[in-house]
Formats: sequence, C-alpha cells, structure tokens
Amino acid sequence: MSEPTTTAAAMVRAEGVRKSFGLVEVLKGIDLEVRTGEVFVLVGPSGSGKSTFLRCINHLEKVSGGRLSVDGELVGYRQKGERLYELRDHEVARKRRDIGMVFQHFNLFPHMTALENITEAPVQVRKEGKADARERARALLERVGLSDKAASYPSQLSGGQQQRVAIARALAMKPKLMLFDEPTSALDPELVGEVLDVMRGLAEEGMTMIVVTHEMGFAREVGDALVFMDAGVVVESGHPREVLANPQHERTKAFLSKVL
Ligand SMILES: Nc1ncnc2c1ncn2[C@@H]1O[C@H](COP(=O)(O)OP(=O)(O)O)[C@@H](O)[C@H]1O
Ligand SMILES: [Mg+2]
Repeated sequence: MSEPTTTAAAMVRAEGVRKSFGLVEVLKGIDLEVRTGEVFVLVGPSGSGKSTFLRCINHLEKVSGGRLSVDGELVGYRQKGERLYELRDHEVARKRRDIGMVFQHFNLFPHMTALENITEAPVQVRKEGKADARERARALLERVGLSDKAASYPSQLSGGQQQRVAIARALAMKPKLMLFDEPTSALDPELVGEVLDVMRGLAEEGMTMIVVTHEMGFAREVGDALVFMDAGVVVESGHPREVLANPQHERTKAFLSKVL
C-alpha cells in the first residue's frame, strides 16, 4: 500500500526533511527522491549533514520535521486513515532490517570469523536455519571475491577485505536499499578500487543504493543521480556527469575543486 503522494518508483522520498540537535538545525528542509534501482550519490563537505540524513532514513535518528518515506511508507510512522501513529521499537527494528548500512569503519564483530559475521543477523534476527545461512554466506563471500577468507577473523584481513565482508554482511539480510557512508574513506588508496568494484557489481544487479563518497570517478561512472549538500540544504542536483562537469553554484564549484 502506498500513500497517495508517493510514486511507485520512489524508494526514498524526502520532503522538507528537517533535523535538529538541540538548538542546532543540521538538516534544513531536504527535498529529494531516490528511485528504485538507482545509484544515488550524496556529496558535500564535512558537517553538511550527509550522515545524519542517512541515519534518518533507517531511523537511527528521528526527523524533526517534514516527511521521509522509504518504499512508500513513512519512516517511523504508521498511517491509519488520516492519522499517524508512531511505530514501536520492535516495528522500527523490523523495518530497519530491510535497509543495509555500510560505514566508513567496517564495524565487524572482531571475535567472529568473516563467515560468522555474515550469518549472525540472518540466524539471530531473521531466524534462518544455520546451514542455510552458512550456505548463503559462502555465496556472498564469493560475490565479494573472498571465498578463501571464510574462516579469517577481521584482524587477519586488510581494510578492503573487511569492508567487503561488511558489504556481504549487509546483503545477507536481503535489503531493498543499501546505504553507504563513506565506505572507502578509511582505506589505503590501493584498496579503494576493490571495494568500489563490489559496489559497481551491486549497482549492475539493480540494487538501490545511496552512496556518500568523495570518489568522483565512481560517482561519474556508476551514479544515476548526484546531490550536492552543504550546511543542511541541497545546493544542486542532477546527473553526476552534468553536475561534475558543469556545476552551477559557487559552493559546488569550490567543493569539487578540492575533491576532483
Ligand atoms: N548526535 C548529534 N548530536 C549533536 N550534533 C550532531 C549529532 N550528530 C551530528 N551532529 C552535528 O550535525 C552536523 C552534521 O553532521 P553529519 O551529518 O555527521 O555531517 P557529514 O556526514 O556531512 O559530515 C555536524 O555539525 C555535527 O556535529
Ligand atoms: Mg558523515
């Protein structure tokens, strides 16, 4: 069931989304739409609100105003007729399972092998059988090019390998949307490519992805849409190739001149 204002093809829709921490307004009315199957690149200087926006999408933060919906449903609320009811914690948790998140610091469980990191949530949260979960985890490890690392602990893996395990772990929950928050920013330069390759593969398979990144080559080649954010507002947006080649606003130009 979708709301009347939401088009079927929108995976994420933000309308005037605001977020304050105390007196500080960090998101000042974000309007954007991420279509299903799209790679949506979010760029902007540090502190502009990119991570906060991602955290609102999977309800790690509660919006202070505006409307935010994922796959046609308002984040954090259930609509019954004209009225909105705030979701309970377990309902929020259930919805969050459908959204995969990959962070700058891989956040793997250090005491678990790569395989165990991947099977943990499907078994504990989705109550999948262990044998099935392990079989799928192996397939996911193969997909991220790490078939031979199933028994390795995070400390035995490079940063690029750890991040690929983190991506496999997120995929194990069969998400309909993947959020990447600067997934390559903590990596040595020579390890960035292997992670971007995995993300490119996901994009080719049709995964809907929001990617916060400074990797403009990736944005240009893989991105379907790009938004430049600064100080809690969307400054400009468009096709990545157009925005990157021909930015319209001074703030965008200044930012791109530093990262390109
Ligand atoms: N939990 C929080 N409490 C207070 N301020 C926060 C919190 N989270 C983020 N902020 C502030 O919000 C602003 C935007 O942060 P963030 O979304 O992390 O930006 P970005 O990811 O673009 O670097 C920053 O000024 C940051 O200090
Ligand atoms: Mg951030």
